[in-house]
Amino acid sequence: MDFYVVFFLFLFAFAVNVQSYLIPREEPNSDGCARIYNEFITKKKTNFSYADVNDCYKSFPFDKDAIDTLSGLVGGFYVFLDKAKEPPQPGFDFRPVDLKAELENFRTKSYSTLYDFTTDVKHLFYDLKDSHTLFGSYCFTTFFFHTNMTFYSVVNNGEQKIKVFDDTIDQSNIDCEVTHIDGQQAFKVIYEFANNSVYASRDLGVRFNIALDRAYKFPSFAVRSEIPERSDITYTLKCDNKNAFDVKRNWNAFAQNSIILNEFNNSKSYFDNICNPTNGIIQIGPSSTAFQEIKAAPPDDFNKIVEQQDKSITTIKIIDSFVSFFKTQDFGIVKFFTESPTGPEEPINMLTDIIQGFKELENMGVKKV
Ligand SMILES: *[C@@H]1O[C@H](CO)[C@@H](O)[C@H](O)[C@H]1NC(C)=O
Ligand SMILES: *[C@@H]1O[C@H](CO)[C@@H](O)[C@H](O)[C@H]1NC(C)=O
Ligand SMILES: *[C@@H]1O[C@H](CO)[C@@H](O)[C@H](O)[C@H]1NC(C)=O
Ligand SMILES: *[C@@H]1O[C@H](CO)[C@@H](O)[C@H](O)[C@H]1NC(C)=O
Repeated sequence: MDFYVVFFLFLFAFAVNVQSYLIPREEPNSDGCARIYNEFITKKKTNFSYADVNDCYKSFPFDKDAIDTLSGLVGGFYVFLDKAKEPPQPGFDFRPVDLKAELENFRTKSYSTLYDFTTDVKHLFYDLKDSHTLFGSYCFTTFFFHTNMTFYSVVNNGEQKIKVFDDTIDQSNIDCEVTHIDGQQAFKVIYEFANNSVYASRDLGVRFNIALDRAYKFPSFAVRSEIPERSDITYTLKCDNKNAFDVKRNWNAFAQNSIILNEFNNSKSYFDNICNPTNGIIQIGPSSTAFQEIKAAPPDDFNKIVEQQDKSITTIKIIDSFVSFFKTQDFGIVKFFTESPTGPEEPINMLTDIIQGFKELENMGVKKV
């Protein structure tokens, strides 16, 4: 199977030799992947039931060799192994992680499915709260789950509340307060989700905003890439000053990219073509690209604006579509347009230019950047 581990923008995909593949059950109907195929072909559907995706994802057996490969990769390439063991600085909320030791612990657990193992390892990497270090398998990025409701949060009279941002099924729910989710206080449920299932920041407040953010897509509270714990979810809503009422929704699974639905017609072909493709990776996991959605201002415009607005700003050096250096009084300004430059030059070759930019700032008497 192919996993992806992203260390600071470098994507490693590695294959673990799978000796035997077990076809889970005999009857075609018990094969969730085959049911998905049938819905797609016969009913032209691109959204599927929780049960179909659950059965499809959980039809692949766990392969113990994966731990060896992972352990080697983490030990060999993750430069922050020791740093990750340190407790958080005050104000940040995460736990120290001994990646190698915790991976070893997974050996003692008896996993029956590849999905359960992959999800546990993914969460171990989530606990680093480092948005550049992710783990996942292409096997489990085909679908996302959604209940057609999204949320926002406001503070009213000193109390933080959750409200319905959008509901495409029943628009009369929009702006109603969500008091409870599955019987638990709504704020607490989302706060815990942010703490445990959002990885992109060490600051829990930032993770809470991401959990409610629709632009980030994954993982958010409303749009999940993992199989939710249950097939449905109940929101208790309070609209204006009327009585509270319950809205029960099923989690629906949507294909992220319907092209993938042509790649399989049962569990075996799903595994061979999506989890363990012999002819290379056919898709990039959504989590590895989710953070590139933030659009930078086009560099040319930015440079013009800076120059036009303020004559006291001197342009020192511009590395096309990547980094620019400016100076005003004894301040240096370094503007990164992107964290993944796509210019004609390899990022590594731009390093000399970047170092030169900083040197020029220093030579011009810059004290602060
Ligand atoms: C597809 O989504 C619609 C709502 O958008 C829902 O009514 C329907 O049941 C879903 N289909 C499946 C197979 O879950
Ligand atoms: C968030 O998660 C960490 C790590 O599991 C835990 O130590 C911390 O207490 C949690 N914070 C809150 C506010 O629940
Ligand atoms: C539910 O949301 C999905 C995904 O955004 C959309 O395709 C579908 O049409 C929505 N269903 C309804 C009934 O609004
Ligand atoms: C679907 O099944 C048939 C055999 O039943 C096989 O020949 C074909 O290659 C399969 N298609 C895909 C996309 O795997």
